[in-house]
Amino acid sequence: MDKKYFIAEASEKDLDEIERIETESFSDAWSKESFVSLMMNPHSRILASFDGDRLTGYVCTMQIDGEAEILNIAVDSEYRKLGIGSMLLDSAIDSLDKEFGLTVYLEVRESNAPARALYRSRGFTETGIRRGYYIKPKENAVEMEKKVQ
Ligand SMILES: CC(C)(COP(=O)(O)OP(=O)(O)OC[C@H]1O[C@@H](n2cnc3c(N)ncnc32)[C@H](O)[C@@H]1OP(=O)(O)O)[C@@H](O)C(=O)NCCC(=O)NCCS
Repeated sequence: MDKKYFIAEASEKDLDEIERIETESFSDAWSKESFVSLMMNPHSRILASFDGDRLTGYVCTMQIDGEAEILNIAVDSEYRKLGIGSMLLDSAIDSLDKEFGLTVYLEVRESNAPARALYRSRGFTETGIRRGYYIKPKENAVEMEKKVQ
């Protein structure tokens, strides 16, 4: 990975770019206000990846009472398949408070093969299905988790 690629905590100045990537990435995209709420929530965090000045992706996490969740992750379509999603996911997990036996959870659309492959490649295992969990379009969620030492 080139040195000009780096990860930093996202701030308000990043919201327009986050919204752009979110909208191009998801049929049921989150609003900008959802990201603002996460930025203000002491239990959540948004990390962003950069290519110099350009924001190339982001990941959102939530950790409450020893349980952690990956809420959202997306990479700019021009920057996919370069290892940025992996870097974001690893950084998100590194940034969590490590407690004995901490498990990180996430859900992913059943049809989202790239994301399922990314999560498997970072050590997540598929543990269940939530039928009809997603809307726009309606789809099952695959539940995944990873135990963090
Ligand atoms: C899922 C996503 C974040 C992956 O980001 P990325 O930067 O392209 O991922 P990486 O380059 O780090 O790829 C890591 C691994 O994921 C898997 N992967 C990524 N894209 C893939 C694709 N199009 N097809 C199959 N596997 C893929 C591969 O196993 C890959 O490892 P490899 O390159 O050694 O084969 C990106 O495709 C994206 O933003 N998708 C739209 C948003 C989304 O679906 N988010 C997930 C919501 S649950």
